[in-house]
Amino acid sequence: MDTFIADLPKLELHLHIEGTLEPELMFALARRNGVALPWPDVASLRTAYEFDSLQSFLDLYYQGASVLVTEQDFFDLTWAYLERCVADHVVHVEIFFDPQTHTARGIPFETVLGGIERALKDGEEAFGISWRLIMSFLRHLSEEEAFATLAEAEPHLARLHGIGLDSSELGNPPGKFARVFARCRELGLPAVAHAGEEGPADYIWQSIQELQIRRIDHGVRCSDEPELVRYLADTRLPLTVCPLSNVRLRVFDEMAHHNVLHLLEQGLCVTINSDDPAYFGGYMGANFRALVQGLGASREQLCRLCLNAVEASWLDLADKVRLTREIRGYAATHGVILH
Ligand code: ADE
Ligand code: ZN
Repeated sequence: MDTFIADLPKLELHLHIEGTLEPELMFALARRNGVALPWPDVASLRTAYEFDSLQSFLDLYYQGASVLVTEQDFFDLTWAYLERCVADHVVHVEIFFDPQTHTARGIPFETVLGGIERALKDGEEAFGISWRLIMSFLRHLSEEEAFATLAEAEPHLARLHGIGLDSSELGNPPGKFARVFARCRELGLPAVAHAGEEGPADYIWQSIQELQIRRIDHGVRCSDEPELVRYLADTRLPLTVCPLSNVRLRVFDEMAHHNVLHLLEQGLCVTINSDDPAYFGGYMGANFRALVQGLGASREQLCRLCLNAVEASWLDLADKVRLTREIRGYAATHGVILH
């Protein structure tokens, strides 16, 4: 099964580039930039990776991101992630970046975008990994701050493929950003939003009705409302699910209780993603292996999850056809029958 997973062509649609900052790189960049960290070494930092909620993780994640200063830092971060994609046979990525985490520290927008984009372009050439880039607004900050970030991004809109909404969910409902998302629609930017990770099913409805999102990030709390589950099955509005993240942040107490395969069998367009892999115990391959170990996922289910990711991606139709054929061909070669 491990080699079947390793060679299965995968797409990642929910990945925070700041969440790929491995402790070793964090310390190397801290030294390079003269940034002080509150942990003496890598080992003690790793012991801090015990989270009891989304907020307990975010506090550490924002602290870690403070070592990212130069364009080269953002390049190195993104390049390291792409090397993990090669190892896991991830062929297409749609990644988030959080400009406000950096501009609030005085790092220019162009430094952040330039470094990430340069790595993605070089990675496409070197490894053939296609990509899309999604700018996320931090929902714990105000609507006014989101509008200010959008104004900063406006000269660069042709370099962005969409917008997202992340950070502390509880108490920051999607509706808070309805006007920002409406303006982004006028600018031609498609939207996604984190909803139903820790927050209630109502936040998923809000992100559909008030933000008009194209995908829901997480969305696992949809199970609380059968009518919402039916809606998601009927519309095939995709959910980018992150199994290891959900267990590490206590959304589910153990992998055996995760609902992703149940949602898959109910006809939802669920996909598998790694979220913040440096903090949650693994990249795409590890998430797929966890589904097998914790939930007994079959090879057929793993293939269908990858086909869902093709459907949910923002690739052109020709690339969707090519990748669908590649995954179906892979399944057939391994004697997996897809229904
Ligand atoms: N930012 C980075 N990871 C996140 C997550 N899992 N939920 C919300 N915001 C995030
Ligand atoms: Zn996320």
